[in-house]
Amino acid sequence: MHDFSFLNSKCAFPEPASAEKAALGLEHWLEATEAAGLSDLGKQSISDPHARKALEAIFGNSQFLTASILRDPNFTYKLLTTDPSQTLEGIIDGLNHHPTPSDWTTGNIKLAKHLKAPLTKCDSLIADALVDEKNRQQTQIELIASENIVSRAVLDALGHEITNKTLEGYPGARFHSGGRFADVTEQAAIDRAKELFGCEYANVQPHSGSQANLAVFFALLKPGAKILSLDLAAGGHLSHGLGANLSGRWFEAHHYGVNQETSLIDYDKVEKNAAEVSPKLLIAGGSAYPREIDFERMAAIAKKVGALFLVDMAHFAGLVAGGAHPSPLPHADIVTCTTTKTLRGPRGGVILSNKSDWQRKLQSAVFPGVQGSLHTQVIAAKAVCFGEALTPKFKAYAVQIKSNARTLAETLNGRGIHIVSGGTDTHLVLLDLSGQGLTGSTVVKILEVTNITSNKNPIPFDSPKPAEWVGLRLGSSAATTRGLEEAEFSELGDIIADLIMAAASGDTEPAIETARERCARLCTQFPLYT
Ligand SMILES: Cc1ncc(COP(=O)(O)O)c(C=O)c1O
Repeated sequence: MHDFSFLNSKCAFPEPASAEKAALGLEHWLEATEAAGLSDLGKQSISDPHARKALEAIFGNSQFLTASILRDPNFTYKLLTTDPSQTLEGIIDGLNHHPTPSDWTTGNIKLAKHLKAPLTKCDSLIADALVDEKNRQQTQIELIASENIVSRAVLDALGHEITNKTLEGYPGARFHSGGRFADVTEQAAIDRAKELFGCEYANVQPHSGSQANLAVFFALLKPGAKILSLDLAAGGHLSHGLGANLSGRWFEAHHYGVNQETSLIDYDKVEKNAAEVSPKLLIAGGSAYPREIDFERMAAIAKKVGALFLVDMAHFAGLVAGGAHPSPLPHADIVTCTTTKTLRGPRGGVILSNKSDWQRKLQSAVFPGVQGSLHTQVIAAKAVCFGEALTPKFKAYAVQIKSNARTLAETLNGRGIHIVSGGTDTHLVLLDLSGQGLTGSTVVKILEVTNITSNKNPIPFDSPKPAEWVGLRLGSSAATTRGLEEAEFSELGDIIADLIMAAASGDTEPAIETARERCARLCTQFPLYT
């Protein structure tokens, strides 16, 4: 029998704040003690009134202590049965006797059995955070332009055991054995990407959009080469030559901007810039440019100055895939994108090209150039995402994304809020809050309180200080996935406009209350993953 009298004599424990969590904790405690070969301890501790009270106080009041205790039942055993000072002595003693490798296979640790337990049973800190995150997504309307809501099928691939597989190289030419089935997924991802975007070459291994760009630079440029890209403040991306990014440190980055009146790219100016700079690479695309880009004109400019032409279509790739946006592929030498955002896939990057003679260069630039092994589970999920994007339903989705964004822009504009460039051709709507005397960060906070997520953003010619930016970036792809259409986007526009006007007048409380109710109604009406 275990002796818990120490607890009896010295401690008074609080009541659990959550009886449900306390009960769940006891269940997990029984399993954890059993997995650690301490099932006697588990059973006796929950039938002893004092030990049970201590455990319930912990499980019902502290996620952190719950996670620690369930992770190491041996340590908890010491705490439950001995004085804290003796426990500490035991720890110090233990430090002087490191476990040997054989302890892990023959001792009480029973690693393999523990590894079979689902997350909810073995790590309540993380499990609870994930439950909370899912609930957050369910109860908030996502208007961050770079986000989306992936399908259950994409989630299944991401959480699959294929994640255990290490592979380097490309399908059919790997450095490790056992890659037969991972090859099937990668080849499918490649074939589907090529079909989806109508190109001859696809590399689906880049771990992210930034990695895809880096691999392109590695393949095509020498250190110190000149690149010319859209200015970050005008909607460019940091991986296109920002000083703080590797691309800005290793290359001589120059930027073109937009017209001060229209906020549109001034192609004549780009041409002039390109003639002055003579870049080796001209880049189009960005993270906050809401309009279609004239790829043909940009390609002509690149050609004229002897530069290669890269289009980073990270944001609008899903619109291209769905036929709702012109494709850059007929004009660009190389195209990169992320599989998140409008494409509605896992987090990752892709490189596409019609230059089949660059294939070897690009393959080796990704691996071993800038990456090692592939993320096998992400590649499987990319294949699923491309498969979904090849369906007619995705075409309808892409059209709906654009229509929803247009409705949002028009509603806000109708309420007197300036939309940068006057509107949108994509999923992205950029608000200029200077007319209301507000910063982006102020409005982001108010929107978040009402359960709408968004982000502050610079607008063209904005302050260099993020705290002073007057831009707010919104995007329609995630809420469109959820099922919201024009009527709901019009309502969202009104909700946002009401909040902005309230913030400008200095009295936000009543507007926040109403907005919260309206958002909650929309979230209930359009649930996630049901
Ligand atoms: C235009 C553009 N390129 C590249 C990236 C980088 O993608 P990642 O965050 O996957 O590195 C982004 C991300 O927002 C982007 O907007």
